[in-house]
Amino acid sequence: MEKLIIHGQKRLHGEIEVHGSKNSALPILAAAALVNGVSEIHNCPKLTDIDAAIHILMHLGCRVSRSGHTVTVDATAMNNWEVPDELMREMRSSVVFLGAILGRTGHAKLTTPGGCEIGLRPIDLHISAMEQLGAVLEEDAGKLDFHAPNGLQGARITLSFPSVGATENIMIAAATAKGRTVITNAAREPEISDLADFLNGCGAHIHGAGDSTVIIDGVPKLSGTCHTVIPDRIAASTYLLAGAVTQGKICVRDIVPAHIGALLPVLKEAGCDITASGRWVCLSAPPRLHRVKMTRTMPYPGFPTDVQAPLTAMLTVADGTSVIIENIFESRYKHAAELIRFGAKISVEGRMEVIEGVPYLTGASVVAPDLRGGFALILAGLAARGETVVTGLEHIDRGYETPEAILCALGADVKRVQDNGTAKEYTKEQSTKTDGETGVPKGGNKTTGTPQPGTAVRETTAE
Ligand code: EPZ
Repeated sequence: MEKLIIHGQKRLHGEIEVHGSKNSALPILAAAALVNGVSEIHNCPKLTDIDAAIHILMHLGCRVSRSGHTVTVDATAMNNWEVPDELMREMRSSVVFLGAILGRTGHAKLTTPGGCEIGLRPIDLHISAMEQLGAVLEEDAGKLDFHAPNGLQGARITLSFPSVGATENIMIAAATAKGRTVITNAAREPEISDLADFLNGCGAHIHGAGDSTVIIDGVPKLSGTCHTVIPDRIAASTYLLAGAVTQGKICVRDIVPAHIGALLPVLKEAGCDITASGRWVCLSAPPRLHRVKMTRTMPYPGFPTDVQAPLTAMLTVADGTSVIIENIFESRYKHAAELIRFGAKISVEGRMEVIEGVPYLTGASVVAPDLRGGFALILAGLAARGETVVTGLEHIDRGYETPEAILCALGADVKRVQDNGTAKEYTKEQSTKTDGETGVPKGGNKTTGTPQPGTAVRETTAE
């Protein structure tokens, strides 16, 4: 199986761009199925979760093509309303297709997506919302069969929890429902606003996205549009933490600093110097990080649950004891056991994680337990003395595009070794910056082939 081999203790330096947001591209690709026309989606990341979404769109009868980071969806001939179990299982967030299929065809057959490594991931809020919009559900042993013979009707829907996916499904389904839908206690994540921008570009009438109350006035039909996906705030956060945990000095370009607003004070409390401007954030780490007393994960704009595992990795080598409370998912600490293999001192009690900082980590062989926990292990390997081997890369490839190429461009010593023992080669466009296409430094890294450790990058000076 593929593995990453990391030789740690290299200070990361330089500047990168991050790929488009996975958690924005997925609902936008789903919403493209609602459109009776062609949608062109730019800055779409090359991730296995995106591949899974494309498979579903094609199964539904859409024509999908991809060129670099642009995905074109022609949903004119969409003629299917069923997502088979094997496709649902390929990506558990496939439930976000429910609203689009139901809104477009008046019918939707899918299976309950099932839990995943971080929790049970129920979809009761999605189901209840579709029923409030007029859908009738027949459920049998995990098979969900929704019908809306008279089409969907606008409704006033209050979410008991600001669920990101449920908010997205409601916005999509309500876009072409009859009448007005008002969502109260909606999720406020930037991906919600990006989805609304896409749908409004297609002719929808959505107001208030990004706030707790979202109003959708249904329109008869939507037509195709061009849309550029926002940068991935979780990837940006993860790479800043990579700079922090290696006493590095890095800048992340072309992001929206406000989207990572909850992370910046945490990095400052850890002793990092942070500078931010319109479209970039730079970090300069101290020789020894300070502990961060208490971090609670919360819905946006609070600290994001998806950054909890990478933050844990950074805090394992901080001076002092840090506490994290995971308030969003019930079992999102699987990375702790793997981090302990590096010599980290972590204890978990329910939703509380206590991290007692140690002077150094020692390289280990570890297995990624899930997407964000997997990258936490990479961060630990970057900080550790000696060699680290990370397997379970299929988790990491769901949400991070060519992480080893980006890290090598920042000076890390990371190789992806394939099953046959050869190091993965990179095409020119994957290792160098070309017209905003990939996430490695502009200009500095013109190598072709496998990025070499310490590849010279243009030193970034905070403006
Ligand atoms: C989205 O998941 C993201 N995924 C997650 O990112 C992210 O962690 C999460 O939002 C929270 O920000 C995508 O956007 C594809 P939720 P989602 O509905 O929509 C409970 C990553 O690493 N809940 O906001 O599934 C649920 O169990 C992934 O990129 C219900 O109880 O999250 C959880 O405890 C991981 N009933 C909480 O709400 C429901 O019907 C938050 O879930 C739905 C959710």
